[in-house]
Order: sequence, then C-alpha cells, then structure tokens
Amino acid sequence: MTATYHVKTFGCQMNVYDSERIGELLEAEGYAAASIESADVVVLNTCHIREKAAEKVYSDIGRLKARTARPRVVVAGCVAQAEGAEIVRRAPAVDVVVGPNAYHRLPALLRDGGPQAAVDTDMPLASKFDALPARRSVVGASAFLTVQEGCDKFCTFCVVPYTRGAEVSRPAAALVAEARALIAAGAKELTLLGQNVNAYHDGDITLAGLIRLIAALPGLVRLRYMTSHPRDMGDDLIAAHGEIDVLMPYLHLPVQAGSDRLLKAMNRAHTRDSYLRTLDRLRAARPDIALSGDFIVGFPGETDADFAATLSIVAEVGYAAAYSFKYSPRPGTPAAGMADQIAESVKDDRLAALQAAIGATALAFNRASVGTRCDILLDRAGRRPGQLIGKSPWLQSVFVVSPAAKIGDMITVDLIDAQPNSLEGAPVPHLNSFLSAAA
Ligand code: 5AD
Ligand code: SF4
Repeated sequence: MTATYHVKTFGCQMNVYDSERIGELLEAEGYAAASIESADVVVLNTCHIREKAAEKVYSDIGRLKARTARPRVVVAGCVAQAEGAEIVRRAPAVDVVVGPNAYHRLPALLRDGGPQAAVDTDMPLASKFDALPARRSVVGASAFLTVQEGCDKFCTFCVVPYTRGAEVSRPAAALVAEARALIAAGAKELTLLGQNVNAYHDGDITLAGLIRLIAALPGLVRLRYMTSHPRDMGDDLIAAHGEIDVLMPYLHLPVQAGSDRLLKAMNRAHTRDSYLRTLDRLRAARPDIALSGDFIVGFPGETDADFAATLSIVAEVGYAAAYSFKYSPRPGTPAAGMADQIAESVKDDRLAALQAAIGATALAFNRASVGTRCDILLDRAGRRPGQLIGKSPWLQSVFVVSPAAKIGDMITVDLIDAQPNSLEGAPVPHLNSFLSAAA
C-alpha cells in the first residue's frame, strides 16, 4: 500500500512555499497526499515568531500521539530550528526534527529512521534549492516563489535572524527557471517571497532587476513581492512600480510602530519620517499604490504617547490592510530582557484600539474603490451557491456571483459595495465574453 503524508503549515508565506516543496519531495519519494487524520507521516511546518504560534505545535503533537495508529511525526520549520533536540526531549513522540534549511534531506531521514529521533538543523552553505525537484506542481492560479531567505536586520523583538539565519539570495537564473516551471504548471500570478525580499541581490541584479526578468515571461499576468524592509526600498524598485504593468500596485511595508523612540529601541534603522518619505516616493511613481503593514503593540517601554504615535501613523498612511500583534518576548532576543515589559491587559487594550484604527482606514480604502472597475483573479469559492472570491490588483478580496466562472479565471467586475475586509463585485458581461464562450 502507498504510504501517505500530510503537511500542516503554521506562520508565514515562506512556510507555505516550503510546505509545497516538502510535499513535492515526498511525492517524488512515492508518498501520496492524505488528511491529517489518516496520514502515515505528518509534517508540522512550524512558526516561532510569537509564543502562541510556537506552543500550538506541542498541542498538535499531543493530539497526533493520541491517534490509535500513531503517524510518524516530523517537526519542520522555525520551531525545529530554534528548539532542535529540545523538541524530542519535550515530545518523545516526534520522529524527525528538520530545520528550514535542511528539509531537502527529509526523505532520507524518513528512510533511515530507526527507533531514535533524527534531528537535522544544519544550515549548510550549499543550497537546499539545488536538491529539490525542478518540476513544480501548482495548486492554484497564484503561486509563491522564495527568492531570498534570512535576515541581517536584528530587530530587537524578532527571532527570524536566529531561526532563518543570514540573508541569502537565490541565483536569478534559477529563479527565472522556477518561475517558468510555475507558469507552465498553471500559475498566472507569482509572489516573490523573502524575509527581506527587497534586500535581494545576485551580483548586480537587485530585486528590481529580478522583477524585470520575471515580468517578461510569457503567460505571467500578475507579479507581487513580500516582505520588504523600509531601509531597502531602492530607487530602482520604486521606479519599477511606475514602469512594469504586471507588477501589482500593492506593497507590504511593515513599520511596526509610529514613534522614533520606539523604532530606535526596536533597532528598525528607519524613522517615522524616513518611512513616510519612502511612501511619498512610491506614490509619486505609482499614485494608486495600496499599502499594508505590520504593527507591534506593547513593546517594552511603550508609553501612551508612543502608542498614540502608532495610531496616528495608521491614519496618516491610510493602510489598505494591516496586521497587528501583541509583543511576545522571544527567547534569546534583546527585547525579551528589556525592563518595562508591558502588562497583558494594556497590550489587549492597545491591540483593540489599533485594530479599530486599521479597520477604519481599510474601510475608507475599500469605499473609495466602489464605483470603479477592475480585474479580479478568482482564488476560492464563496459560501453562497455560485459565489466566488477573487483578488483585485490592490489585494482586496472581492465577492462575485458568476456561475460560469471558475477558480483561476481572471474576470472584470464593477465594484459595487465595500466592507472593511472585502468588496462586492458585479461581473461586466461584455468584458467577460470568454465565460459565455466556455459555457
Ligand atoms: N512579538 C510580536 N510580533 C512580532 N513580530 C515579529 N516578532 C514579534 C514578536 N516577538 C511581528 C512583526 C513582523 C511580523 C511578521 O510579526 O510585526 O513584521
Ligand atoms: Fe524580523 Fe526585523 Fe528581520 Fe523582519 S526585518 S525578519 S522583523 S529582524
């Protein structure tokens, strides 16, 4: 009987990409995909960014261990990297621990598996990417492509420089080849991923150069990239937003906080003003660009005045979307040892206030697009019969009822209503004639 596997993903898009590659590796080894309840091998691809995310892994391991036919359990991802053999001590049911830079060796680790758990958290110099299958299988019309990994910025709250290591860029030629493979497998949209994607460089080729190379590939309709650091928004990348049609008018540019005092304590290497000036330059190049960001509330020493500055930058920028988190002390990071840790109740109140402020700017952004027309790339089914959900160029979720359309189609809609997290669209019949031709 064929052995089966299931990969469960926690955390960021880089993990989503790694999970897809892990799935491809296991399929090349003869495994077939299955549900988490029935799989022979369950891979937990973990996240260490906040304590809550890290703890979820242990409750999942407990649940898997309780299954009558206990699967082989693999812990991959950033918890594997950060905690290594400690995981096996804490959860003896785990069979393999494999870090984010070593997962190409997972098939061998499973093959060789004896009674002892195998732990591989090496960060080899040779790239894992060279050892992965060249052919890509694509699940949807939108695909991720990791172009850069690791981080040299050392924000004082963040574990990433420790779990993902130093900034490393993949060779541009390999990325163009992988982009072609993804397009050949059905991808219409690619999102270039990196912890600091705009620090990408291969010789003279910057992220802007890579974007130009990939944008030129036939069959590619949309191109995005994330996550960027404000410090690395080069002039050539900003200019690319005004010049490349397939590059979508959307940028995820985390600022984390609004006060210079806090930005300094976070070691962000930018100020409120330099961040805002970067946005001015972007808007000059691409006036309709939508912005999203990440915010942390309750960083050690955050005063009411600091928090007020965070609220005011949200209003000043007018984010289309933003993600906000309560500060979570992470082992080994400088901020975890700082005095003036903030009480949980204060963090809760500030998070609620920040989310309300973000909700207001997101609603304003969505309302401003009502009455306009755009293309949406359909990526999932809605709850109502015939309802589909697609993404606008500005990454808004747009609900439509269009029984002739299917996931993966790009259709033109009029935006007719707005909520904080979504819009309603009406298909424009004469601009979607391919649908009636297909019906
Ligand atoms: N606590 C809370 N949020 C964090 N982030 C990173 N580290 C922490 C932490 N220790 C957030 C930042 C980052 C996003 C991916 O996660 O906002 O941009
Ligand atoms: Fe973490 Fe800062 Fe690096 Fe982002 S830039 S991964 S927040 S250390």
